[in-house]
Amino acid sequence: KRVLVLNGPNLNLLGTREPGIYGADTLADVETLCQQAGSELGLSIDFRQSNHEGELVTWIQEARTTADAILINPAAYSHTSVAIPDALKAVGLPVAEVHLTNIHQREAYRHHSYVSAIAYGVICGFGVTGYRMALIALAEKLK
Ligand code: DQA
Repeated sequence: KRVLVLNGPNLNLLGTREPGIYGADTLADVETLCQQAGSELGLSIDFRQSNHEGELVTWIQEARTTADAILINPAAYSHTSVAIPDALKAVGLPVAEVHLTNIHQREAYRHHSYVSAIAYGVICGFGVTGYRMALIALAEKLK
Protein backbone atom coordinates (compact mmCIF):
# COMPACT_ATOMS: atom_id res chain seq x y z
CA LYS A 1 0.00 0.00 0.00
CA ARG A 2 1.08 3.59 -0.68
CA VAL A 3 1.10 6.47 1.80
CA LEU A 4 1.52 10.09 0.74
CA VAL A 5 3.30 11.93 3.57
CA LEU A 6 2.72 15.68 3.35
CA ASN A 7 4.46 18.38 5.34
CA GLY A 8 3.27 21.98 5.39
CA PRO A 9 4.99 25.36 5.60
CA ASN A 10 8.26 25.93 7.45
CA LEU A 11 8.81 22.23 8.11
CA ASN A 12 11.65 22.44 5.57
CA LEU A 13 13.49 24.37 8.31
CA LEU A 14 13.15 21.58 10.86
CA GLY A 15 16.35 21.14 12.89
CA THR A 16 17.21 24.83 12.79
CA ARG A 17 13.71 26.23 13.42
CA GLU A 18 13.12 26.87 17.15
CA PRO A 19 14.85 23.58 18.08
CA GLY A 20 13.74 24.01 21.72
CA ILE A 21 10.16 23.56 20.48
CA TYR A 22 10.49 21.40 17.37
CA GLY A 23 13.62 19.37 18.18
CA ALA A 24 16.94 18.82 16.46
CA ASP A 25 15.84 16.37 13.77
CA THR A 26 15.77 17.71 10.23
CA LEU A 27 13.06 17.04 7.65
CA ALA A 28 15.54 14.68 5.95
CA ASP A 29 15.73 12.76 9.25
CA VAL A 30 11.92 12.59 9.32
CA GLU A 31 11.90 11.25 5.78
CA THR A 32 14.48 8.58 6.72
CA LEU A 33 12.33 7.60 9.70
CA CYS A 34 9.23 7.36 7.49
CA GLN A 35 11.02 5.34 4.80
CA GLN A 36 12.34 2.96 7.45
CA ALA A 37 8.94 2.57 9.13
CA GLY A 38 7.38 2.15 5.69
CA SER A 39 9.68 -0.71 4.75
CA GLU A 40 9.01 -2.43 8.10
CA LEU A 41 5.25 -2.05 7.59
CA GLY A 42 5.16 -2.89 3.88
CA LEU A 43 4.16 0.64 2.89
CA SER A 44 5.65 2.65 0.07
CA ILE A 45 6.18 6.24 1.16
CA ASP A 46 5.97 9.33 -1.02
CA PHE A 47 7.39 12.08 1.21
CA ARG A 48 6.87 15.76 0.34
CA GLN A 49 6.96 19.26 1.81
CA SER A 50 5.54 22.54 0.52
CA ASN A 51 5.27 26.09 1.76
CA HIS A 52 2.29 26.66 -0.56
CA GLU A 53 -1.30 25.83 0.34
CA GLY A 54 -2.34 25.38 -3.30
CA GLU A 55 0.49 22.97 -4.01
CA LEU A 56 -0.56 20.85 -1.03
CA VAL A 57 -4.16 20.89 -2.35
CA THR A 58 -2.98 19.76 -5.80
CA TRP A 59 -0.90 16.93 -4.32
CA ILE A 60 -3.88 15.82 -2.20
CA GLN A 61 -6.09 15.75 -5.30
CA GLU A 62 -3.49 13.69 -7.20
CA ALA A 63 -3.47 11.15 -4.35
CA ARG A 64 -6.88 9.93 -5.59
CA THR A 65 -5.03 7.73 -8.06
CA THR A 66 -1.57 7.44 -6.51
CA ALA A 67 -2.06 6.70 -2.79
CA ASP A 68 -4.08 4.55 -0.38
CA ALA A 69 -3.76 6.87 2.63
CA ILE A 70 -2.40 10.29 3.54
CA LEU A 71 -0.29 11.31 6.52
CA ILE A 72 -0.26 15.08 6.86
CA ASN A 73 1.40 17.58 9.14
CA PRO A 74 -0.37 20.68 7.80
CA ALA A 75 1.77 22.90 10.10
CA ALA A 76 0.34 26.44 10.35
CA TYR A 77 -2.28 25.66 7.68
CA SER A 78 -3.93 23.35 10.26
CA HIS A 79 -5.26 26.42 11.96
CA THR A 80 -6.20 28.52 8.90
CA SER A 81 -6.95 26.39 5.85
CA VAL A 82 -10.39 25.27 4.72
CA ALA A 83 -9.07 24.23 1.28
CA ILE A 84 -6.81 21.49 2.69
CA PRO A 85 -9.53 19.64 4.67
CA ASP A 86 -11.92 20.15 1.72
CA ALA A 87 -9.42 18.44 -0.60
CA LEU A 88 -8.78 15.64 1.89
CA LYS A 89 -12.52 15.07 2.22
CA ALA A 90 -12.97 15.09 -1.57
CA VAL A 91 -10.29 12.44 -1.99
CA GLY A 92 -11.81 10.27 0.73
CA LEU A 93 -8.64 8.37 1.70
CA PRO A 94 -7.88 7.69 5.38
CA VAL A 95 -5.99 10.66 6.82
CA ALA A 96 -3.62 10.67 9.78
CA GLU A 97 -2.88 14.16 11.11
CA VAL A 98 0.45 14.58 12.87
CA HIS A 99 1.93 17.47 14.84
CA LEU A 100 5.38 17.34 16.38
CA THR A 101 4.29 19.47 19.31
CA ASN A 102 1.30 19.20 21.64
CA ILE A 103 -0.72 21.95 19.98
CA HIS A 104 -3.18 21.99 22.92
CA GLN A 105 -0.41 23.09 25.24
CA ARG A 106 0.63 26.03 23.07
CA GLU A 107 -0.90 29.36 22.00
CA ALA A 108 -4.72 29.36 21.85
CA TYR A 109 -4.68 29.89 18.07
CA ARG A 110 -2.99 26.50 17.67
CA HIS A 111 -5.60 24.57 19.66
CA HIS A 112 -7.99 24.18 16.73
CA SER A 113 -7.17 22.33 13.52
CA TYR A 114 -9.63 22.27 10.61
CA VAL A 115 -8.04 19.00 9.47
CA SER A 116 -8.91 17.16 12.69
CA ALA A 117 -12.63 17.14 11.84
CA ILE A 118 -12.00 15.00 8.76
CA ALA A 119 -8.99 12.95 10.00
CA TYR A 120 -9.15 9.25 10.80
CA GLY A 121 -6.86 10.00 13.75
CA VAL A 122 -4.70 12.76 15.19
CA ILE A 123 -1.32 12.43 16.91
CA CYS A 124 0.42 15.36 18.55
CA GLY A 125 3.16 16.02 21.05
CA PHE A 126 5.37 12.96 20.44
CA GLY A 127 7.85 14.71 18.14
CA VAL A 128 9.07 12.80 15.09
CA THR A 129 7.90 9.52 16.68
CA GLY A 130 4.36 10.69 15.86
CA TYR A 131 5.07 10.03 12.17
CA ARG A 132 6.02 6.42 12.96
CA MET A 133 2.93 6.01 15.17
CA ALA A 134 0.69 7.35 12.42
CA LEU A 135 2.22 4.99 9.82
CA ILE A 136 1.64 2.03 12.15
CA ALA A 137 -2.01 3.06 12.54
CA LEU A 138 -2.49 3.57 8.79
CA ALA A 139 -0.86 0.20 7.96
CA GLU A 140 -3.32 -1.44 10.37
CA LYS A 141 -6.25 0.48 8.85
CA LEU A 142 -5.23 -0.51 5.29
CA LYS A 143 -5.00 -4.25 6.05
C1 DQA B 1 3.05 22.01 13.95
C2 DQA B 1 2.26 22.90 14.91
C3 DQA B 1 1.73 24.14 14.20
O1 DQA B 1 1.00 24.95 15.11
C4 DQA B 1 2.87 24.96 13.64
O2 DQA B 1 2.38 26.05 12.91
C5 DQA B 1 3.83 24.15 12.84
C6 DQA B 1 4.15 22.79 13.24
C7 DQA B 1 3.73 20.84 14.68
O3 DQA B 1 4.17 19.92 13.98
O4 DQA B 1 3.84 20.85 15.91
O5 DQA B 1 4.41 24.66 11.88
O6 DQA B 1 2.16 21.46 12.99
